[in-house]
Amino acid sequence: MDLVTKLATEHILKEDEFKTLLLTEKVAERNKLFSYAQQVAIFNFNKQIYIRGLIEFTNHCQKDCFYCGLRCSNKYVSRYRLTKEQILTCCKRGYNLGFRTFVLQGGEDHYFTDDVMCDIISAIKMYFPDCAITLSIGERTRRSYQRLYDAGADRYLLRHETADSLHYSRLHPPSYKLSTRLDCLRDLKEIGFQVGAGFMVGAPYEVPEYLVGDFLYLKELEPAMIGIGPFIPQQDTPFRHQEPGSLEMTLRCIAILRLMFPRALIPATTALATLHPNGRVHGILSGANVIMPNLTPEDERDKYTLYDGKTTASGEAVSSLRLVNSQLRNIGYEMVVDRGDYTPELPEE
Ligand code: 5AD
Ligand code: SF4
Repeated sequence: MDLVTKLATEHILKEDEFKTLLLTEKVAERNKLFSYAQQVAIFNFNKQIYIRGLIEFTNHCQKDCFYCGLRCSNKYVSRYRLTKEQILTCCKRGYNLGFRTFVLQGGEDHYFTDDVMCDIISAIKMYFPDCAITLSIGERTRRSYQRLYDAGADRYLLRHETADSLHYSRLHPPSYKLSTRLDCLRDLKEIGFQVGAGFMVGAPYEVPEYLVGDFLYLKELEPAMIGIGPFIPQQDTPFRHQEPGSLEMTLRCIAILRLMFPRALIPATTALATLHPNGRVHGILSGANVIMPNLTPEDERDKYTLYDGKTTASGEAVSSLRLVNSQLRNIGYEMVVDRGDYTPELPEE
C-alpha cells in the first residue's frame, strides 16, 4: 500500500514513513497527499468553512519567547489592553456579521487575573449565549483553567510549538520547559475544554524529525483543534535574520494532519496568509476547514506584531470578511454561521 493510502486508512504512519512523505520529491505522491486531504475535508465538512472571530485583547506579555514580537524584551511594541466594554463591542460587531465563536487571544498578561477573565467570559456568555468562547492566553495553573472553564469558556488554544525538548529549549529562555506546556495541555483536556495544540513550521533549528515528533505527540493528545503556520521572522527578536518557513512544507503538514485527524478543526492561519497572498486558499485546498478573521479594533490590531508583515486583512472586519468570502466562493467553498464544535464522529444527517 502506498503511504498516502496507508495514512488515509490507518491515520498513522511509522516515523520513517512520515519523514518520507514530508520530504517526498515524487510529484504523484505529493499530489495524492493533497487530493486525499482535500477529499477527506470535503467528506467531513461539505466545503463549509467555520469562521472564528479573533479578538487580540492584550499584547502585554511577561514571556520572552525568542521567535515572538510580543516578547517582554521587545521595547519597540506599543502595548495595549482592551477593556471589557471594548471586547463586548467586538463581539457585538462579530455577532452581527455571523460569528458564533469568539477567540480571545493575548500574551501572558498579569492584568488579566482569573477574576478579570471570568468577568469578561460571563459577560460574553450572557449577551451571546449561543456563541462559543475560545481562549488563547498561555500557560496558567490547573485551578485557573478550571475557573475559566466554569465561567463558560468552551475551548482553549495552546500551541505546544515543538514536541522535542531540545528544540523547545532553543526557541525559549532556559527556564521554560516543554513538560510544563504539555502538562497544561493535559490539564485543559482533563477539565473538559476542546483543546487546540500546534506548532510553527520552519522554526529555527527545525529538522524533519521534529515535525514527525509533533505528529506523534498530537496523535497521543488527540486535540479537537490543530493550529499550525509557517515561522515568520520578526525584526525586533533574536530570530530576525532567520529564514521563514516554507509554504509547501506548511501545506504538507496540514494535509498530513487532515489525514491523521479527519474531524479536527484545522485553521488556515494568519501566518499562512501573511507568507503568501493566497495562503488561506492553499490551506483550505490542503485540508484546513477554519478561518479566523480579525475583529480587533484597527488601531490596536497593528500593534499585535507577532511577526513581520502580519496581515491586517484590509482594515474593517466587514471588508476582511468580504475578502475571505469571495476567496472561498472562487474555489466553491462557503462560510457557515455555526459554533462549529468538535465532534469526534461524523454527525448523522
Ligand atoms: N512566526 C510565526 N508564528 C509565530 N507565533 C509567534 N511568533 C511567531 C512568528 N515569528 C505563533 C506561535 C504562538 C502563536 C501565538 O503565534 O506559535 O503560539
Ligand atoms: Fe508571549 Fe505568546 Fe509571544 Fe511567547 S508566543 S512571547 S507567550 S505572546
